Amino acid sequence: MSQLKPIISHLDNIPSTPGKFKPEKSPYIHRLRIHSISKLTLFSFFFLAVILSIFLFSAPSTPSRPAESAAAALARRSLSNAEMDDHERERKVRSSACARSRRGHTVLVTGAAGFVGTHVSIALKRRGDGVVGLDNFNDYYDPALKRARQKLLNQAGVFVVEGDINDSALLKKLFDAVAFTHVMHLAAQAGVRYAMQNPSSYVHSNIGGLVSVLEVCKSANPQPAIVWASSSSVYGLNSKVPFSEKDRTDRPASLYAATKKAGEGIAHTYNHIYGLSITGLRFFTVYGPWGRPDMAYFFFTKDILKGKPITVFEAPDHGTVARDFTYIDDIVAGCLAALDTAKKSTGSGGKKKGAAQFRIYNLGNTSPVPVSRLVSILEKLLKVKANRKVLPMPRNGDVQFTHANISLAQKELGYKPTTDLETGLKKFTRWYLSYYKKKKSAW
Ligand SMILES: *[C@@H]1O[C@H](CO)[C@@H](O)[C@H](O)[C@H]1NC(C)=O
Ligand SMILES: *[C@@H]1O[C@H](CO)[C@@H](O)[C@H](O)[C@H]1NC(C)=O
Repeated sequence: MSQLKPIISHLDNIPSTPGKFKPEKSPYIHRLRIHSISKLTLFSFFFLAVILSIFLFSAPSTPSRPAESAAAALARRSLSNAEMDDHERERKVRSSACARSRRGHTVLVTGAAGFVGTHVSIALKRRGDGVVGLDNFNDYYDPALKRARQKLLNQAGVFVVEGDINDSALLKKLFDAVAFTHVMHLAAQAGVRYAMQNPSSYVHSNIGGLVSVLEVCKSANPQPAIVWASSSSVYGLNSKVPFSEKDRTDRPASLYAATKKAGEGIAHTYNHIYGLSITGLRFFTVYGPWGRPDMAYFFFTKDILKGKPITVFEAPDHGTVARDFTYIDDIVAGCLAALDTAKKSTGSGGKKKGAAQFRIYNLGNTSPVPVSRLVSILEKLLKVKANRKVLPMPRNGDVQFTHANISLAQKELGYKPTTDLETGLKKFTRWYLSYYKKKKSAW
């Protein structure tokens, strides 16, 4: 079944149901099974008549053949149609994977229709790398936004395969079709509070999915280098600021954080056993145009514009809740630098040949901003006063503040964020207003 499962259902919007593209046996064969013998005889006459009429209409070019072989040809044709479909998809994958510059990378981006995935994929493609996207278009948040991002990707020449990272057969097929030099693994179940509602989805994507990606990478020949998204949330209850890569990360405050922390351990295992080159990036509250609707800056904007009250949390004793908001373009620069400085994996065919690179970097902005200040900036940009409701922060996964020490990324990746929150939010609100205005007029 998996053999015939399409690599892509993509733009034609076909759900990735396994076996959906399984070529149907000739419908005649089905019917033969369910009909009685007498009906079968009658049916054979009808069938022969159909075949005969086909012969009559195509007589000049078709040598006469027994009816059975014509039926077989019919079945073959329908099978080859399905194969052609599959080939068409594979052709799209190959062409999307084609690097424009000769020294360009060939990158598989998982979570390509996600916020960071879209921006990274487009940036890679623009500078001449080959990029193939993979995304399951799940409905954790409005899939219409993911489809709109997919349109952008398509315009940039990035083809997105529709499928799940947990689907090992699909991953294998992609690696059979393309010799990826790099994997940018961004697919994940995000969100801190949602983990209490749907814990298994975190295990599925952030643990099972990660393992399935690493498994295909370790078996690939050549093995790609891997850069993947960890999270600043691994610092958990760490109170030493700023957060440095060497600080303890053994007190996660949410299941999300715990799965990301587990991911770092899993990544180390694959590096150690199989010689995979792996770089983990701990993102700090990434925001910007085409962002995720489940994040505060996004739904604050929505609610402020609707005149709905927004809930601003404060820590005990009126303590400040702050985030090291990092603008998407800075994150993209960090991701590309991580890919460009990644050394090759050392193994092949699942066997380690020598020690391989293993790195972890903070990608933050180094300047935490109180959430109340975030709201003030939004009020100014949207020219609407927010209806704030200040509540004590519940203990459901959020931490009081995040603050990145980025000196390691600065030194080794040349990472240097340049966008402050006000500048970045200006770009975000401009995008938000135009995107949702267009959507409204479309209705
Ligand atoms: C993940 O994929 C494996 C096979 O690759 C399958 O057995 C398993 O059921 C999948 N898990 C989920 C949660 O879909
Ligand atoms: C930031 O991290 C570096 C290691 O990359 C460390 O040497 C330095 O002391 C840290 N700075 C602070 C202020 O913690």
